[in-house]
Amino acid sequence: MCGIIGYAGHRPAVPLVVEGLRRLEYRGYDSAGTAFVQGGEMRVVRAAGKLAALEEKLASCASATATSAIGHTRWATHGVPAERNAHPHCSNDRRIAIVHNGIIENYQELKADLLAKGYTFSSETDTEVLVNLISEGMKTQGSLLEAFAWALRQAHGAYAVCLKSVDEPDTLYAARMAAPLILGVGTGENYVASDIPAFLPYTRDVVFLEDGEVVMLTASAWKVLALEDLSPLEKPVRRIQWDMQAAQKGGFRHFMLKEIFEQPRVITDCLAGRVDGDTVVLRELESLPVPRRLHIVACGTSYHAGLWGRHLLEHWARVPVSVEIASEFRYRDALLLDAGDAVLVISQSGETADTLAALRIAREHGVPVIGLCNVVGSSIAREADAVIYTQAGPEISVASTKAMCSQMVMLALMSLAWARLRPAGEAGISPEDSAGIIDALRALPGMLDAALPDMHARAREISRAYADARNFFYLGRGHCFPLALEGALKLKELSYIHAEGYASGEMKHGPIALVDPSFPTFALALDDALFPKVKSNIVEVQARQGRIIALTNPGLDIAADDVWVVPALPAPLSAFMALPALQLFSYEVADYLGKDVDQPRNLAKSVTVE
Ligand code: G6P
Repeated sequence: MCGIIGYAGHRPAVPLVVEGLRRLEYRGYDSAGTAFVQGGEMRVVRAAGKLAALEEKLASCASATATSAIGHTRWATHGVPAERNAHPHCSNDRRIAIVHNGIIENYQELKADLLAKGYTFSSETDTEVLVNLISEGMKTQGSLLEAFAWALRQAHGAYAVCLKSVDEPDTLYAARMAAPLILGVGTGENYVASDIPAFLPYTRDVVFLEDGEVVMLTASAWKVLALEDLSPLEKPVRRIQWDMQAAQKGGFRHFMLKEIFEQPRVITDCLAGRVDGDTVVLRELESLPVPRRLHIVACGTSYHAGLWGRHLLEHWARVPVSVEIASEFRYRDALLLDAGDAVLVISQSGETADTLAALRIAREHGVPVIGLCNVVGSSIAREADAVIYTQAGPEISVASTKAMCSQMVMLALMSLAWARLRPAGEAGISPEDSAGIIDALRALPGMLDAALPDMHARAREISRAYADARNFFYLGRGHCFPLALEGALKLKELSYIHAEGYASGEMKHGPIALVDPSFPTFALALDDALFPKVKSNIVEVQARQGRIIALTNPGLDIAADDVWVVPALPAPLSAFMALPALQLFSYEVADYLGKDVDQPRNLAKSVTVE
């Protein structure tokens, strides 16, 4: 998983490419590099570490006047994070350089052939194999374009790749197969990149490239061709409405904090056009019947949203739901054959490799797939039978926050929409209660907006007392159990403190053995039917000298080392108050410990490889 960018235009290309890479850093950031042609030679500058290291190296390259360049920010898939494995990679004769996002699965076989022909390799990457294969293709194919396509046809796996050559210094070639790639169409300049923010300051006009497509671009022209036979393809240019401000920190210390505070706006945007009076309007679902069984498949935070959504879908819409991690689902012989089954894939990026694979398996079984995605035009969005966009806007911080909130809103709306389609008496929620939930959802952005500053202050206060913990439990029951899992995930990914989310009732079946004064517990003790049960579980932990943070609602009788009261909402909507509290607590612990909040070590925003 990496970010790539290519530029052909009239401006100094190298700074522009570096700037684009900065906006792609969320895709990976263990090394970066750029290639451009100068004085008839390929110049490649690469550096391990973050972009600043590359910029430092480029500073001594003041003569870089090229108006076309390619760039890459890497997250290691093959080879350790080191300069020799950083992109771009060059052919042995240094006439071609490429940047690549993805994995060429058969690169060992291709490499063996090339080694036998006398090629040498200075890295462990599949990318260096690909660039030399293109070089080999130059011997038999009529042109660079044909050699590029010839090599890609032999490569199995996933790639978004962009090529620059000494012989055609003003032209870039790029192609995609199972990895995102978007063309940006400017005036006297064109771009290709893994994601739109890379070139958004310069153009809003984009062409979404599909698998099996090749694009050729110069400063003044572009054309898309089929990889198979290089026949020209007609592609529509679309105008993107996102503004760059949405992808910038807007005065907050970190993107994560900004994105947590954006959640009221996200809820408003999710509801816009989706609720009309007492009714939920989800046109995207109109062509599909209410499923007899729903399989939710997702990864990471999106998986937790799915677990939470199950409570509403089963309780309100009375649809039986299974929720599964995509990497497990895809290799299990899932029983999807029943007529009436549907699969719901949840993915912020719409590019997560395992989730995309699960979608394809479902489609092979002829089961309709609904995609719940944030990124417009993403692979999952394009391949699903129906797509519901979550309207969270670009999420830059690697740790997902507002995207989960938006997924939860949409899951609540889906549950209400399907409940309404149930024959009279069969829904788990009456029309009156449904109207009450819609009203509560409408009021939610205002309430949350008002609550967030205090919540942030309290998170900061409490975090200081717990930042020295090496382990943490997060406990919850019912719809709060998925929140406990999410709270634990946030703490471990941001602050590197070991944290486990548990169903409170499961504690005494083993985990409670770990509790001692140095092993605190974050308990979700909200105002719902299970509160008395959670309270007993808290007492059990306290009896073992475990310290407790209890996140609770006004008026509830609870004793804890730190009682944290957030405004009440009818369950399960209380989750929309609990979620930001959990996010803010993790944020504050990590920031206090001096961790890299927006880009935690070893993680990437969008996991486009297995
Ligand atoms: C990565 C991110 C997580 C995210 C997960 C699933 O691991 O770091 O924050 O929840 O991928 O991503 P998706 O885009 O499919 O929701």
